[in-house]
Amino acid sequence: MLPETRLLLRHPFFLQGDVYALGVPGAELAPLGVKRGWSPDAHERALAPFALDEGLAPSAQAEIALVYLPKGNARRDHVLDLASTIAEKLVLVGCNDAGIKTARKAVTARAVGPVQSEHGNHAQLVATSLKPVEPKLRERRFQVPIGFFEGLSPDPPPGSPDPTHEPSLAPLDARRPAGRLASSPGLHVGDAPDALTLVSLPGVFSEGRLDDATRTLLDVIVWPARGRVLDLGCGAGPIGLSAKRRVPTIDVTLVDVDDYAVEATRRGAKVNALDVDVRSSDGYAAVSGERFDVIVTNPPFHRGVGTEYEVTRAFVNDAPAHLRPDGAFWLVANAFLPWEEPLRARFATVDVVAQDRRFVVYRATRPRT
Ligand SMILES: C[S@@+](CC[C@H](N)C(=O)[O-])C[C@H]1O[C@@H](n2cnc3c(N)ncnc32)[C@H](O)[C@@H]1O
Repeated sequence: MLPETRLLLRHPFFLQGDVYALGVPGAELAPLGVKRGWSPDAHERALAPFALDEGLAPSAQAEIALVYLPKGNARRDHVLDLASTIAEKLVLVGCNDAGIKTARKAVTARAVGPVQSEHGNHAQLVATSLKPVEPKLRERRFQVPIGFFEGLSPDPPPGSPDPTHEPSLAPLDARRPAGRLASSPGLHVGDAPDALTLVSLPGVFSEGRLDDATRTLLDVIVWPARGRVLDLGCGAGPIGLSAKRRVPTIDVTLVDVDDYAVEATRRGAKVNALDVDVRSSDGYAAVSGERFDVIVTNPPFHRGVGTEYEVTRAFVNDAPAHLRPDGAFWLVANAFLPWEEPLRARFATVDVVAQDRRFVVYRATRPRT
């Protein structure tokens, strides 16, 4: 049971009435006796004892909106706006090390009347009545450089490979140092730099910029000329959308557990007129029974104490079941994280394609089945 739940159970008075839960982890709902709610997280929805509402604009009415503090100020403010349309009374709980003190200030700014607090279990509960605020899903657009146009140069350099012909998984120099963005090996390089416009929504990973680990991966990854690519944990979609832009002949599926990420990626695909398949999915759940030529991931690493390892471990362990026999699994991670061993347990060949002080890019092939 989470510290937030233990604190709430010590103060049952705050949940007397008709409660609607916003972003409360699925497994915490039964102990709290809450029977209605919403979550933008497919994993939490799967753990809930009843069907939680989905979508980015839940419409419900209740006496009390119970909110577990989400990560990041932008998502927090958005969820507080949603809560204000659902119930007059707000009960917000969060851990001390997760920003509940700052959140209390944000709540105070929206409060009508007094703000009550209770402390304990390294968490804080904040209760008040809220001014109703119209929730606005603020999107932020940003540019992601993806290297150079392929195949557009009128005069290709002699001997350069033909992009329309099989560049599939050209040989790689092992342990290439991570460097600046370049063009994928095996593809024809023109001279016009290309960029994607991505859309970010509140709380979507990397909040309007290209993450350095993602950049390191995009710098070295090799896309096949055709076949299916899965971007696992797509965030705003920089990996899968740039794959589709670079190699329009591949079929790209992008999945994320967070509905805001799914919506951000859909919007990004629309802005760039890219025909891709974007799905809400806890890990491989939404692609069960499907196989890909490339699975690529910049996995989550700080979702909560301990849980990030479980998620990435499942991404690695379940990869062979979703790869074609000659497929490749690409993973970028912080250099200190222990992914080489689990990869070697599931794949006969594991190459370190790029490495610097901060990140490692692995390419794992020959899945063990
Ligand atoms: C480090 S971010 C990378 C996002 C994006 N690929 C990028 O490079 O900017 C990891 C992403 O994994 C998603 N994620 C976390 N747990 C997941 C799960 N169980 N299934 C699918 N996606 C998950 C998060 O929502 C987040 O968007």
